[in-house]
Amino acid sequence: MSRFIIKSSPPLKGSVKISGSKNAVLPILAASLLTEGKCVIRDVPRQSDVDTMRMLLESIGVNLSWDENTGVINTLASGSLRAAAEYELVSKMRASFLVMGPLLARLGEVNVPLPGGCAIGARPVDLHLKGLSALGAEVIQEHGNVRARAKRLKGARVYLDFPSVGATENIMMAAVLADGVTILENCAVEPEIVDLANFLNSAGAEIRGAGTGTVKITGVKTLTEADHSIIPDRIEAGTFMVAAGVTKGDITVTNVVSDHLKPLIAKLKEANLNVIETDSGLRVYYDESKSMVASDVKTLPYPGFPTDMQAQFMSLLILAKGTSIVTETVFENRFMHVGEFKRMGADIKIESRSAIIEGVKRLTGTQVKATDLRAGAALVLAALTASGTTELSDIYHIDRGYCNLADKLSSLGAKITREEEKLEKNTK
Ligand code: EPZ
Repeated sequence: MSRFIIKSSPPLKGSVKISGSKNAVLPILAASLLTEGKCVIRDVPRQSDVDTMRMLLESIGVNLSWDENTGVINTLASGSLRAAAEYELVSKMRASFLVMGPLLARLGEVNVPLPGGCAIGARPVDLHLKGLSALGAEVIQEHGNVRARAKRLKGARVYLDFPSVGATENIMMAAVLADGVTILENCAVEPEIVDLANFLNSAGAEIRGAGTGTVKITGVKTLTEADHSIIPDRIEAGTFMVAAGVTKGDITVTNVVSDHLKPLIAKLKEANLNVIETDSGLRVYYDESKSMVASDVKTLPYPGFPTDMQAQFMSLLILAKGTSIVTETVFENRFMHVGEFKRMGADIKIESRSAIIEGVKRLTGTQVKATDLRAGAALVLAALTASGTTELSDIYHIDRGYCNLADKLSSLGAKITREEEKLEKNTK
């Protein structure tokens, strides 16, 4: 189990290239199951979640090659495929559940373990299953597994009670090969949904309206091949933009789509940071003449403030003058980082789904642990400005969704090193 050793660092300065989006590449890899044609997927980030999805696809029978130097994955799902996903891969990564829609559409049956909850909440899959049933699948849940069967899926009108990203993706992928037209209403509109729809349309699917709350999918018989570049990771970009504020530095993030970052840009400006669009990307810098001020944040489905940026933005607010209120409306338990921030001297009180933050002058370094992916990233940011040294353990969470985070931060002046945790001496 490795950890980060992070020392108080100077203001971070320079530019950093953002990698491909984890939350776009995972559903697109699952979607490659829908076609017998060859798929070339470019700008794939090096992360352990991508490794898990590659292992899952290979276990299903997909012929897959991965060149980590060029960031290109080639898939070929033309042989006989297994209609099942293995428990330890699904329990390791919830996004494994996204193979359900494609396998059901391709094979007419599928058996996937129910993903458990995780640190940030129960994360049920009822909306995924409701949508697949609406398309005519027989869905049976037993002994911790979900089995779905359908000779041929039929297009239907599906209303999602909540604009769930995963449910939108699973149902969209299943509908692509269904008989007739599916109308998905009140569905998620995240940029990653649009990227998935673009990938599928490039392989011959007929999806209209992705990125709006209503998507029309006209089923086709088969898909052909695809060659697709993954959109940049808006959450990785946001993490570095917040790092500029936390360390009072000046960072330009390149290879970004600024449209995907509007809610964060608005909040950074509200906190008195400068954000300007340059021809190479987005530059975020702190202005000595204006101190960072408190602001209230409420997470919402896109295009609201992203829940995946809540912890990182909190690392800024704990140092901002005044009282900030952060309300998490998407997940029921996404404040696990608060306890760790308090160990570093932050002044935060939790009242139901809100965290009330009183800005403090400085944090102090200590031992803390990453409780989930974004909490881990947020603790790295806080540690960069804390006095002394911070030891951050359980950083496997961070490896799941960031590509070379420590190297990228070091290139901006951060004092961060990675070390393998010394195994406990055998005390017997
Ligand atoms: C995706 O998770 C992302 N993961 C998450 O990113 C992100 O936080 C989330 O969307 C919200 O934007 C990937 O794309 C791989 P949801 P997903 O279904 O699809 C409830 C990160 O840090 N819900 O939109 O699981 C659910 O409990 C990760 O990169 C149901 O009730 O999110 C949650 O409260 C974390 N029933 C809310 O909806 C369902 O059937 C949002 O979940 C499905 C979801």
